[in-house]
Amino acid sequence: KTKIILDTDPGIDDVFAILFAQAHPDIELKAITTVYGNATIENATRNALYIKQKYQLQADVVTGASQPIIRPPVGPTVVVHGEGGLGDVKVPENIEGQADPRPAYQYIIDTIKAEPGEITLVAIGPLTNLALALQADPSIVDLVKEVVIMGGAFGENNHHGNVTPFAEANIHDDPHAADIVITASWPVVVIGLDVTEQSFFTREYLDQLRDDAGEVGQFIWDISRFYLRFYSEKVGLEACHVHDPSAIAYVINPELFTLREGPIRVVTDGVAEGMTIQKLDSRVYPHDEWMDKAPQKVGVAVNNIALLELYRRSIIDY
Ligand code: BDR
Ligand code: CA
Repeated sequence: KTKIILDTDPGIDDVFAILFAQAHPDIELKAITTVYGNATIENATRNALYIKQKYQLQADVVTGASQPIIRPPVGPTVVVHGEGGLGDVKVPENIEGQADPRPAYQYIIDTIKAEPGEITLVAIGPLTNLALALQADPSIVDLVKEVVIMGGAFGENNHHGNVTPFAEANIHDDPHAADIVITASWPVVVIGLDVTEQSFFTREYLDQLRDDAGEVGQFIWDISRFYLRFYSEKVGLEACHVHDPSAIAYVINPELFTLREGPIRVVTDGVAEGMTIQKLDSRVYPHDEWMDKAPQKVGVAVNNIALLELYRRSIIDY
């Protein structure tokens, strides 16, 4: 089993990912650490506690950062995920169960140190908590098994984004944090738009899941209504991309993905703020912002048919 801490901003597709991680027997979901992003930190944490209660998760829920480390907050993506973060589904104000008293970055440090070499960090929201953890205790870079990130957009010429022409949402929300996390000398795999936009949950796929996967299938269907409306109206798709669950799919079966290697930097301000750039040549330049940075892996292709089937099977067997 791979032990994971899932750092997340739930968020509709974040919940798709939480349920996937919980469902699959090869993953032990140790904790859900929350972060602002799709929703405010209050709503993100409430949504995580709600899922924990509803599906009796063993995972700890831990409250993370409420805003980026340097840049001014962008604000929750209400148009994509709804007022509270779960679309049309309203989460009760009062939830039984409490978040761990530690801030997420401290929880991350403590857990990694308690089980050196065992923990995979899976980050599917802005990277603020991970950056804060690195700043507070840089020794964790040698103690983590792997860091899997849903974020970024590379494309053939790095020209590709979803919140600006060049930037993907999770990276754009906190580009400084992303640059810290991605350039640290721990093993990073970035599952970005290049692969997540190659997989689609179509209306038919989600209807089938509702029919075949009992209560959990129905819940996924319920929260997906708002998300599908956004895709239909704003993106022109009768389907949604499979962003956050793709990071979980990578943890379960890395062979679904083709990766390429090279050091990555994040543009932290200006017109291309949040853009991710991977250096692919080995030339030495007089001013090289990539020099001495750890080579990291980026997903460039995915077996989307196998990924969709893996998700479907896992949720049906939940
Ligand atoms: C990412 O942004 C969020 O809206 C999604 O939850 C996903 O993590 C996709 O760009
Ligand atoms: Ca997310």
